[in-house]
Amino acid sequence: MSSTESIKLTALSSKGGCGCKIGPADLREVLQSFSPATDNANLLVGLDTSDDAGVYRINDDTAIVQTVDFFTPIVDDPYSFGQIAAANAISDVYAMGGTPLTALNIVAFPIADLDKQILGRILAGADNKLKEAGVTLLGGHSIDDQEPKFGLAVTGTIHPDKIRTNSGAKPGDVLILTKPIGVGILTTSIKRGLLTETEVERVTQVMATLNKEAAETMDDYQVHACTDVTGFGLLGHASEMAKGSHVELQVFAHQVPVLPRVKELAEAGAVPGGTKNNFNYLKDDISFAESLDQIDQWILADAVTSGGLLAAVPEAEAECLLADLQNKDMEAAIIGKVADGNGHIVVEE
Ligand code: CO
Ligand code: CO
Ligand code: CO
Repeated sequence: MSSTESIKLTALSSKGGCGCKIGPADLREVLQSFSPATDNANLLVGLDTSDDAGVYRINDDTAIVQTVDFFTPIVDDPYSFGQIAAANAISDVYAMGGTPLTALNIVAFPIADLDKQILGRILAGADNKLKEAGVTLLGGHSIDDQEPKFGLAVTGTIHPDKIRTNSGAKPGDVLILTKPIGVGILTTSIKRGLLTETEVERVTQVMATLNKEAAETMDDYQVHACTDVTGFGLLGHASEMAKGSHVELQVFAHQVPVLPRVKELAEAGAVPGGTKNNFNYLKDDISFAESLDQIDQWILADAVTSGGLLAAVPEAEAECLLADLQNKDMEAAIIGKVADGNGHIVVEE
C-alpha cells in the first residue's frame, strides 16, 4: 500500500473503543482491581472512581486534570480521524469542568507500509481541534506498528472546589445529553461500506465537535454531576453516575437523540462487539420497558467515540440550560431524571 487515495484507514483497524480512564468492558475487572492505596491528600480524583480524568491539587487554587485516550481509525479520512481523536481526548477535561492547556501526541504507524502523508494529515486534523480548544501541543511519542493508532494525553487546570465528577447527582435532578448517540453502529457501518458520503460526514461532524461550548455553557448553571459519553455507551456512563452518586437514573428512551438510520443499520447487523459487551456487562443493573426490543437496548448501550456530555442538573435550571445549549446549535435533549435509589437504571419507553 503506498498511494494515499487507495487507503481505507478503517480497514487497518481491528477493534476500536475508548473506555476513558478504565478501559473497555472486558478489561474492567483487572483494571479496576489495580488501585494502589495512597494517602496523598493532593490526589483529588484518582483510580478509585470511574471518573473521566484524574485530578491532582497543586495549591489551594489550582489542580491539574490529566487524561489520555487513543484508538484505531474509525473513519477513512485521516484529517477527520485526527480531529475526532483530539476532540475525544480533550473531552474528558471538559467533562470534569476543567480548562485544557497542553497535549502530547501518541502515534502508532506502519512506517514501511503507509504513505507518511497520511500521518501528516492525522496530525494536522488534531492540530486543528487543539487550536480550536486553545490547547498547546508540547510534543509526543511515536512507534512503528502494523495497526495505526492515534490519540493524545491532555493536561488542563481546574479550581479544586469546582471539579465536576460523575458522583454528585441528586434525586430530583434532570439529565441532559448534549450530542446524539448511535456513533458505534454508524462507524461499524462505515467499515462495511453501508453509509453514503453525506451520512459519513454527519457522524464525523458529531464526533469532531468539541465539548468546549457545552462545558462552558454549563458553567453558568449548577451542575451536580457530569461525564462524557464514550466507549461505555450512554447507559454505561449513566450507570457509573448512578452508582457513584448512589441514586437511580430514569432514562426516557424516546427522548434520547439518536442519529438517522441507526436502528435500521443495527437491525441489519451493524452492532459492534463493544456495544454488546457493554450491554452484557450492564444488563443486571438495568430494567427496560417491555416495549423496547433488543435493538433499542443495544442502541442505548452503543459504544460511542467522542460523544456529548451527560449532566445532572437541578430541575429548576434544566429548561433554561437546554434552551441555552440548543440556541448554540447543539442537539441537546432532556433524556431522563434522577430518583432515590442505589445504582440502578430504569429505561422507560
Ligand atoms: Co476518555
Ligand atoms: Co470520559
Ligand atoms: Co518518547
